[in-house]
Amino acid sequence: MIYIKTNREIEQIRKSSVLLAKTLKEIKENIRVGVKTSVLSKIAEDYILSNGGKPAFKNYRGYPAGICVSLNEVVIHGIPSDTKIKDTDIVSIDAGVNLNGFFSDSAFTFSMPKASEKKKRLVSVTKECLFKAIEKFQVGGKISDISHQIQKHAEANGYSVVRQFVGHGVGIELHEDPQIPNFGKPGRGLVLKPGMIFAIEVMVNMGTWEVEILKDGWTTVTKDNLPSAHFEHTVYLSNKGPEILSQIH
Ligand code: MF3
Ligand code: CO
Repeated sequence: MIYIKTNREIEQIRKSSVLLAKTLKEIKENIRVGVKTSVLSKIAEDYILSNGGKPAFKNYRGYPAGICVSLNEVVIHGIPSDTKIKDTDIVSIDAGVNLNGFFSDSAFTFSMPKASEKKKRLVSVTKECLFKAIEKFQVGGKISDISHQIQKHAEANGYSVVRQFVGHGVGIELHEDPQIPNFGKPGRGLVLKPGMIFAIEVMVNMGTWEVEILKDGWTTVTKDNLPSAHFEHTVYLSNKGPEILSQIH
């Protein structure tokens, strides 16, 4: 079922999203060469808890950490560990907040200074895909208009989109209907209405679209081990159009 959120719910989800945006900013400020990915996760968890929230991913379907940190060929769901950030890495950070029972979900990929130009271009095109997709989240449009936009921009730049994972409704739960694939023909699926809140989630690979999940049951890598980037925002559709909740201006 697809929730149309009430004004009260929207205000709560907005608060959750603002805490998430501040958390992501805090993490970004701590990304540097030599930092263990587990340290970034700890910083995020402490920040969320000290502001009255809970890390929404922790223990979600058994997920063992507070956030996901996915380096280079890791597409999503990288489990924080003793691995240290390198100067040439691209670092995807994905986090979720549960504040008073209301959920938000957002991700970004950060290019370390010495990452190759090829990697940096992948990261900027993936970010463009997210913002172009958000422009398609409009009253009267259809779900697959969002999907199509992501695929079109990624493929026009020579990249591929992940098919096994999707964006989703968010707010009352971490994952709600509908699913929002990163590919497809436009003009299909559900009609977009005011009061919908979606986690629009773009995963773009430099090489093949195919991914595989490692033995830990989470870490998702590209089949060809080429890099992948990830950007995601929690977005509210009002009468006036899409509003990004997980961004502080
Ligand atoms: N943003 C991701 C998603 O929507 C992260 C979930 S990680 C999990 O699926 F651990 F919570 F599953
Ligand atoms: Co998500």
